[in-house]
Amino acid sequence: MKAVICTKYGAPEKALKIAEVKKPTPKTNEVLIKVYATTAHIGDARIRKADPFFARFVFGFFKPKKNLVLGMEVSGEIETVGKNVKCFKKGDKVFAFTGFSLGGYSEYKCLPEKSKSFFRNGLLALKPENLSFQEATTIPAGGLTALKNLQKANISKGQKILINGASGSLGTFAIQLAKYYRAEVTAVCSEKNFELVNSIGADKVIDYTKEDFTKSNEKYDIVYDAIVKSTKFRCKRILNRNGIYTNNSQLPKTEEKDLLFLKELIENNKLKPVIDRVYSIDEIVDAHKYVDTGRKRGNVVIRIIDSE
Ligand SMILES: NC(=O)c1ccc[n+]([C@@H]2O[C@H](COP(=O)([O-])OP(=O)(O)OC[C@H]3O[C@@H](n4cnc5c(N)ncnc54)[C@H](OP(=O)(O)O)[C@@H]3O)[C@@H](O)[C@H]2O)c1
Repeated sequence: MKAVICTKYGAPEKALKIAEVKKPTPKTNEVLIKVYATTAHIGDARIRKADPFFARFVFGFFKPKKNLVLGMEVSGEIETVGKNVKCFKKGDKVFAFTGFSLGGYSEYKCLPEKSKSFFRNGLLALKPENLSFQEATTIPAGGLTALKNLQKANISKGQKILINGASGSLGTFAIQLAKYYRAEVTAVCSEKNFELVNSIGADKVIDYTKEDFTKSNEKYDIVYDAIVKSTKFRCKRILNRNGIYTNNSQLPKTEEKDLLFLKELIENNKLKPVIDRVYSIDEIVDAHKYVDTGRKRGNVVIRIIDSE
Protein backbone atom coordinates (compact mmCIF):
# COMPACT_ATOMS: atom_id res chain seq x y z
CA MET A 1 0.00 0.00 0.00
CA LYS A 2 1.06 3.61 -0.49
CA ALA A 3 2.36 5.44 2.60
CA VAL A 4 4.58 8.33 3.64
CA ILE A 5 7.57 7.09 5.61
CA CYS A 6 9.83 9.22 7.77
CA THR A 7 13.39 8.18 6.96
CA LYS A 8 15.37 10.87 8.83
CA TYR A 9 14.78 13.49 11.49
CA GLY A 10 14.76 16.99 10.04
CA ALA A 11 13.28 19.16 7.29
CA PRO A 12 10.21 17.81 5.45
CA GLU A 13 11.98 17.38 2.09
CA LYS A 14 14.74 15.33 3.70
CA ALA A 15 12.58 13.33 6.10
CA LEU A 16 9.39 12.38 4.24
CA LYS A 17 9.26 9.89 1.36
CA ILE A 18 6.36 8.27 -0.49
CA ALA A 19 6.86 4.49 -0.40
CA GLU A 20 5.17 1.13 -0.84
CA VAL A 21 4.81 -0.67 2.49
CA LYS A 22 3.07 -3.85 3.59
CA LYS A 23 -0.67 -3.53 4.14
CA PRO A 24 -1.39 -4.27 7.83
CA THR A 25 -3.55 -7.19 8.96
CA PRO A 26 -5.88 -6.58 11.92
CA LYS A 27 -5.37 -8.63 15.10
CA THR A 28 -8.41 -10.33 16.60
CA ASN A 29 -9.33 -7.19 18.61
CA GLU A 30 -8.58 -4.70 15.80
CA VAL A 31 -10.31 -3.11 12.84
CA LEU A 32 -8.67 -2.35 9.49
CA ILE A 33 -9.50 1.20 8.38
CA LYS A 34 -9.29 2.28 4.75
CA VAL A 35 -7.98 5.77 5.39
CA TYR A 36 -9.65 8.62 3.51
CA ALA A 37 -8.03 11.57 5.27
CA THR A 38 -5.43 12.42 7.88
CA THR A 39 -3.80 15.64 9.08
CA ALA A 40 -0.48 17.40 8.99
CA HIS A 41 -0.61 17.73 12.75
CA ILE A 42 1.90 19.76 14.73
CA GLY A 43 2.65 16.57 16.69
CA ASP A 44 3.65 14.80 13.45
CA ALA A 45 5.88 17.74 12.57
CA ARG A 46 7.51 17.59 16.00
CA ILE A 47 8.20 13.85 15.77
CA ARG A 48 9.64 14.46 12.29
CA LYS A 49 12.05 16.98 13.88
CA ALA A 50 12.68 14.81 16.99
CA ASP A 51 11.47 17.77 19.04
CA PRO A 52 11.52 17.24 21.99
CA PHE A 53 14.65 15.10 22.04
CA PHE A 54 12.97 12.31 24.04
CA ALA A 55 10.90 11.50 20.92
CA ARG A 56 14.03 9.60 19.82
CA PHE A 57 13.56 7.15 22.70
CA VAL A 58 10.12 6.26 21.34
CA PHE A 59 10.50 6.51 17.56
CA GLY A 60 14.17 5.61 17.01
CA PHE A 61 17.29 7.13 18.54
CA PHE A 62 19.68 7.88 15.66
CA LYS A 63 17.05 7.77 12.95
CA PRO A 64 13.36 6.89 12.82
CA LYS A 65 12.48 3.21 13.12
CA LYS A 66 12.22 1.36 9.80
CA ASN A 67 9.14 2.37 7.84
CA LEU A 68 7.92 4.85 10.47
CA VAL A 69 4.62 6.23 9.17
CA LEU A 70 3.49 9.46 10.86
CA GLY A 71 -0.15 10.51 11.18
CA MET A 72 -1.93 11.01 14.51
CA GLU A 73 -5.44 11.39 13.19
CA VAL A 74 -7.44 9.44 10.64
CA SER A 75 -10.90 9.14 9.19
CA GLY A 76 -12.10 6.43 6.87
CA GLU A 77 -14.16 3.31 6.43
CA ILE A 78 -13.73 -0.04 8.12
CA GLU A 79 -12.71 -2.66 5.60
CA THR A 80 -12.42 -5.73 7.85
CA VAL A 81 -12.68 -6.51 11.56
CA GLY A 82 -10.81 -9.02 13.74
CA LYS A 83 -12.83 -12.00 14.96
CA ASN A 84 -13.30 -10.64 18.50
CA VAL A 85 -14.44 -7.15 17.46
CA LYS A 86 -17.96 -6.42 18.70
CA CYS A 87 -18.59 -2.68 18.41
CA PHE A 88 -17.66 -2.05 14.75
CA LYS A 89 -18.42 -3.72 11.45
CA LYS A 90 -17.29 -3.60 7.84
CA GLY A 91 -18.47 -0.37 6.21
CA ASP A 92 -18.61 1.72 9.41
CA LYS A 93 -17.39 5.28 8.89
CA VAL A 94 -14.96 6.18 11.67
CA PHE A 95 -12.55 8.80 12.95
CA ALA A 96 -9.67 8.17 15.32
CA PHE A 97 -6.66 9.38 17.23
CA THR A 98 -3.87 6.90 16.51
CA GLY A 99 -1.71 7.68 19.56
CA PHE A 100 1.96 6.72 19.47
CA SER A 101 1.09 3.97 17.00
CA LEU A 102 0.80 6.85 14.45
CA GLY A 103 0.31 5.43 10.92
CA GLY A 104 -2.26 7.81 9.45
CA TYR A 105 -0.16 8.70 6.40
CA SER A 106 -1.07 5.50 4.62
CA GLU A 107 -3.93 3.86 2.79
CA TYR A 108 -4.73 1.49 5.66
CA LYS A 109 -4.43 1.63 9.44
CA CYS A 110 -5.27 -1.00 12.10
CA LEU A 111 -6.57 0.12 15.50
CA PRO A 112 -8.01 -1.79 18.47
CA GLU A 113 -11.77 -1.38 18.84
CA LYS A 114 -11.23 -0.54 22.55
CA SER A 115 -8.10 1.26 23.61
CA LYS A 116 -6.21 0.34 26.78
CA SER A 117 -4.04 3.45 26.58
CA PHE A 118 -4.93 6.73 24.87
CA PHE A 119 -1.30 7.48 24.07
CA ARG A 120 -0.25 3.97 23.05
CA ASN A 121 -3.32 2.77 21.12
CA GLY A 122 -5.31 5.93 20.42
CA LEU A 123 -9.12 6.14 20.35
CA LEU A 124 -11.67 5.12 17.74
CA ALA A 125 -15.32 6.12 17.25
CA LEU A 126 -17.99 6.37 14.59
CA LYS A 127 -17.56 9.56 12.55
CA PRO A 128 -19.97 12.45 13.29
CA GLU A 129 -22.71 12.11 10.70
CA ASN A 130 -22.70 15.76 9.71
CA LEU A 131 -18.96 15.97 8.93
CA SER A 132 -17.08 14.94 5.82
CA PHE A 133 -14.08 12.62 6.22
CA GLN A 134 -11.76 15.58 5.70
CA GLU A 135 -13.48 17.54 8.44
CA ALA A 136 -13.73 14.60 10.85
CA THR A 137 -10.04 13.75 10.72
CA THR A 138 -9.13 17.13 12.26
CA ILE A 139 -11.11 16.54 15.44
CA PRO A 140 -9.48 13.91 17.69
CA ALA A 141 -6.08 15.26 18.77
CA GLY A 142 -6.81 18.99 18.93
CA GLY A 143 -10.40 18.57 20.08
CA LEU A 144 -9.50 16.20 22.91
CA THR A 145 -6.49 18.25 24.03
CA ALA A 146 -8.52 21.46 24.17
CA LEU A 147 -11.42 19.71 25.93
CA LYS A 148 -9.18 18.15 28.59
CA ASN A 149 -7.45 21.46 29.29
CA LEU A 150 -10.76 23.25 29.80
CA GLN A 151 -12.16 20.46 31.95
CA LYS A 152 -8.96 20.38 34.01
CA ALA A 153 -9.47 24.09 34.66
CA ASN A 154 -13.07 23.35 35.79
CA ILE A 155 -14.54 25.74 33.25
CA SER A 156 -18.10 26.82 34.03
CA LYS A 157 -20.83 29.26 33.06
CA GLY A 158 -20.01 32.95 33.40
CA GLN A 159 -16.27 32.51 33.88
CA LYS A 160 -13.80 34.68 32.02
CA ILE A 161 -11.22 32.72 30.02
CA LEU A 162 -8.29 34.02 27.99
CA ILE A 163 -7.10 31.71 25.20
CA ASN A 164 -3.65 32.38 23.74
CA GLY A 165 -2.86 30.95 20.31
CA ALA A 166 -6.57 31.28 19.57
CA SER A 167 -6.21 30.92 15.77
CA GLY A 168 -4.37 27.57 15.86
CA SER A 169 -5.76 24.07 16.03
CA LEU A 170 -6.12 23.98 19.82
CA GLY A 171 -7.24 27.60 20.01
CA THR A 172 -10.08 27.21 17.52
CA PHE A 173 -11.38 24.14 19.36
CA ALA A 174 -10.92 25.82 22.76
CA ILE A 175 -12.91 28.95 21.81
CA GLN A 176 -15.91 26.90 20.71
CA LEU A 177 -15.74 24.56 23.71
CA ALA A 178 -15.46 27.49 26.12
CA LYS A 179 -18.56 29.03 24.52
CA TYR A 180 -20.34 25.67 24.89
CA TYR A 181 -19.57 25.92 28.63
CA ARG A 182 -20.94 29.50 28.45
CA ALA A 183 -17.74 31.24 29.46
CA GLU A 184 -16.71 34.70 28.25
CA VAL A 185 -13.80 34.27 25.84
CA THR A 186 -10.91 36.63 25.18
CA ALA A 187 -8.94 35.35 22.20
CA VAL A 188 -5.28 36.28 21.73
CA CYS A 189 -4.18 36.18 18.09
CA SER A 190 -2.88 38.52 15.40
CA GLU A 191 -5.22 41.00 13.72
CA LYS A 192 -5.49 38.99 10.51
CA ASN A 193 -7.24 36.25 12.51
CA PHE A 194 -9.73 38.47 14.39
CA GLU A 195 -12.51 37.68 11.92
CA LEU A 196 -11.91 33.93 12.26
CA VAL A 197 -11.93 33.88 16.06
CA ASN A 198 -14.97 36.17 16.22
CA SER A 199 -16.82 33.91 13.77
CA ILE A 200 -16.43 30.92 16.11
CA GLY A 201 -17.50 32.77 19.25
CA ALA A 202 -14.73 34.94 20.75
CA ASP A 203 -16.22 37.82 22.76
CA LYS A 204 -13.06 39.93 22.89
CA VAL A 205 -9.76 39.88 21.04
CA ILE A 206 -6.19 40.93 21.84
CA ASP A 207 -3.58 41.35 19.11
CA TYR A 208 -0.47 39.66 20.46
CA THR A 209 1.74 41.59 18.04
CA LYS A 210 0.65 44.89 19.68
CA GLU A 211 -0.13 43.99 23.27
CA ASP A 212 1.39 41.64 25.85
CA PHE A 213 -1.68 39.93 27.35
CA THR A 214 0.22 39.10 30.54
CA LYS A 215 0.36 42.86 31.26
CA SER A 216 -3.36 43.43 30.73
CA ASN A 217 -5.43 45.08 33.48
CA GLU A 218 -8.20 42.49 33.05
CA LYS A 219 -8.49 39.52 35.41
CA TYR A 220 -9.43 36.03 34.25
CA ASP A 221 -10.69 32.85 35.91
CA ILE A 222 -8.76 30.74 33.41
CA VAL A 223 -5.78 31.38 31.16
CA TYR A 224 -5.33 28.63 28.56
CA ASP A 225 -2.05 29.21 26.77
CA ALA A 226 -2.69 26.80 23.90
CA ILE A 227 0.43 27.90 22.00
CA VAL A 228 2.60 27.69 25.14
CA LYS A 229 4.31 31.09 24.91
CA SER A 230 3.83 32.21 28.53
CA THR A 231 4.29 30.72 31.99
CA LYS A 232 2.07 30.35 35.02
CA PHE A 233 4.32 32.80 36.82
CA ARG A 234 3.93 35.52 34.14
CA CYS A 235 0.15 35.05 34.06
CA LYS A 236 -0.31 35.27 37.82
CA ARG A 237 -1.14 38.97 37.77
CA ILE A 238 -3.99 38.54 35.26
CA LEU A 239 -5.55 35.59 37.13
CA ASN A 240 -8.25 35.98 39.77
CA ARG A 241 -7.36 34.74 43.26
CA ASN A 242 -8.47 31.17 42.50
CA GLY A 243 -7.73 31.49 38.80
CA ILE A 244 -6.25 28.54 36.90
CA TYR A 245 -3.45 28.51 34.32
CA THR A 246 -3.24 25.61 31.87
CA ASN A 247 -1.01 24.99 28.84
CA ASN A 248 -1.35 21.40 27.53
CA SER A 249 1.02 19.89 30.09
CA GLN A 250 -0.11 16.95 32.25
CA LEU A 251 -3.28 15.99 30.45
CA PRO A 252 -5.64 13.88 32.51
CA LYS A 253 -6.70 10.46 31.27
CA THR A 254 -8.53 10.69 27.97
CA GLU A 255 -11.14 8.05 27.20
CA GLU A 256 -13.55 6.93 24.53
CA LYS A 257 -16.36 8.87 26.24
CA ASP A 258 -14.44 12.10 25.60
CA LEU A 259 -14.30 11.44 21.85
CA LEU A 260 -17.99 10.52 21.90
CA PHE A 261 -18.71 13.78 23.74
CA LEU A 262 -16.99 15.74 20.94
CA LYS A 263 -18.97 13.75 18.35
CA GLU A 264 -22.20 14.69 20.14
CA LEU A 265 -21.26 18.38 20.27
CA ILE A 266 -20.51 18.31 16.55
CA GLU A 267 -23.76 16.57 15.70
CA ASN A 268 -25.61 19.20 17.78
CA ASN A 269 -23.80 21.95 15.84
CA LYS A 270 -21.95 23.20 18.93
CA LEU A 271 -18.49 22.49 17.47
CA LYS A 272 -17.08 22.56 13.96
CA PRO A 273 -13.55 22.12 12.70
CA VAL A 274 -11.63 25.02 11.17
CA ILE A 275 -9.75 23.84 8.08
CA ASP A 276 -7.03 26.02 6.67
CA ARG A 277 -5.68 23.95 3.77
CA VAL A 278 -6.12 20.52 2.18
CA TYR A 279 -3.14 18.79 0.53
CA SER A 280 -2.97 15.48 -1.32
CA ILE A 281 -0.72 12.75 0.09
CA ASP A 282 1.73 13.48 -2.76
CA GLU A 283 2.05 17.05 -1.41
CA ILE A 284 3.00 15.91 2.10
CA VAL A 285 6.30 17.82 2.05
CA ASP A 286 4.52 21.10 1.26
CA ALA A 287 1.94 20.37 3.95
CA HIS A 288 4.63 19.88 6.59
CA LYS A 289 6.52 22.96 5.39
CA TYR A 290 3.33 24.95 5.94
CA VAL A 291 2.79 23.54 9.44
CA ASP A 292 6.42 24.40 10.23
CA THR A 293 5.72 28.09 9.52
CA GLY A 294 3.68 28.19 12.75
CA ARG A 295 1.09 30.32 10.92
CA LYS A 296 -1.65 27.79 10.19
CA ARG A 297 -5.22 28.70 11.07
CA GLY A 298 -6.97 25.72 12.60
CA ASN A 299 -6.06 22.48 10.86
CA VAL A 300 -4.30 21.15 7.76
CA VAL A 301 -5.82 18.08 6.11
CA ILE A 302 -4.08 15.40 4.02
CA ARG A 303 -6.36 13.76 1.49
CA ILE A 304 -5.45 10.09 1.06
CA ILE A 305 -8.19 9.22 -1.41
CA ASP A 306 -10.91 11.31 -2.97
CA SER A 307 -13.87 10.32 -0.84
CA GLU A 308 -16.26 13.24 -1.36
N1 LIG B 1 -2.86 20.48 18.25
C1 LIG B 1 -2.81 19.50 19.16
O1 LIG B 1 -3.57 18.52 19.12
C2 LIG B 1 -1.77 19.57 20.27
C3 LIG B 1 -1.81 18.59 21.28
C4 LIG B 1 -0.91 18.69 22.34
C5 LIG B 1 0.02 19.72 22.36
N2 LIG B 1 0.05 20.64 21.33
C6 LIG B 1 1.02 21.72 21.39
O2 LIG B 1 0.27 22.92 21.55
C7 LIG B 1 0.85 24.00 20.82
C8 LIG B 1 -0.18 24.57 19.85
O3 LIG B 1 -0.59 23.58 18.93
P1 LIG B 1 -1.55 23.96 17.71
O4 LIG B 1 -1.72 22.71 16.92
O5 LIG B 1 -2.75 24.68 18.20
O6 LIG B 1 -0.61 24.99 16.94
P2 LIG B 1 -0.81 25.68 15.53
O7 LIG B 1 -2.15 25.34 14.97
O8 LIG B 1 0.37 25.37 14.67
O9 LIG B 1 -0.75 27.23 15.93
C9 LIG B 1 -0.58 28.15 14.90
C10 LIG B 1 -1.30 29.42 15.27
O10 LIG B 1 -0.66 30.03 16.40
C11 LIG B 1 -0.63 31.44 16.22
N3 LIG B 1 0.52 31.99 16.92
C12 LIG B 1 1.83 31.84 16.64
N4 LIG B 1 2.60 32.49 17.55
C13 LIG B 1 1.74 33.08 18.42
C14 LIG B 1 1.91 33.88 19.59
N5 LIG B 1 3.12 34.23 20.03
N6 LIG B 1 0.82 34.28 20.24
C15 LIG B 1 -0.43 33.95 19.82
N7 LIG B 1 -0.66 33.20 18.70
C16 LIG B 1 0.42 32.76 18.03
C17 LIG B 1 -0.51 31.61 14.72
O11 LIG B 1 -1.13 32.83 14.34
P3 LIG B 1 -0.27 34.02 13.64
O12 LIG B 1 -0.03 33.58 12.22
O13 LIG B 1 -1.14 35.19 13.78
O14 LIG B 1 1.00 34.13 14.44
C18 LIG B 1 -1.26 30.42 14.14
O15 LIG B 1 -2.60 30.71 13.75
C19 LIG B 1 2.09 23.41 20.15
O16 LIG B 1 3.20 23.68 21.00
C20 LIG B 1 1.81 21.92 20.09
O17 LIG B 1 3.00 21.16 20.07
C21 LIG B 1 -0.84 20.58 20.30
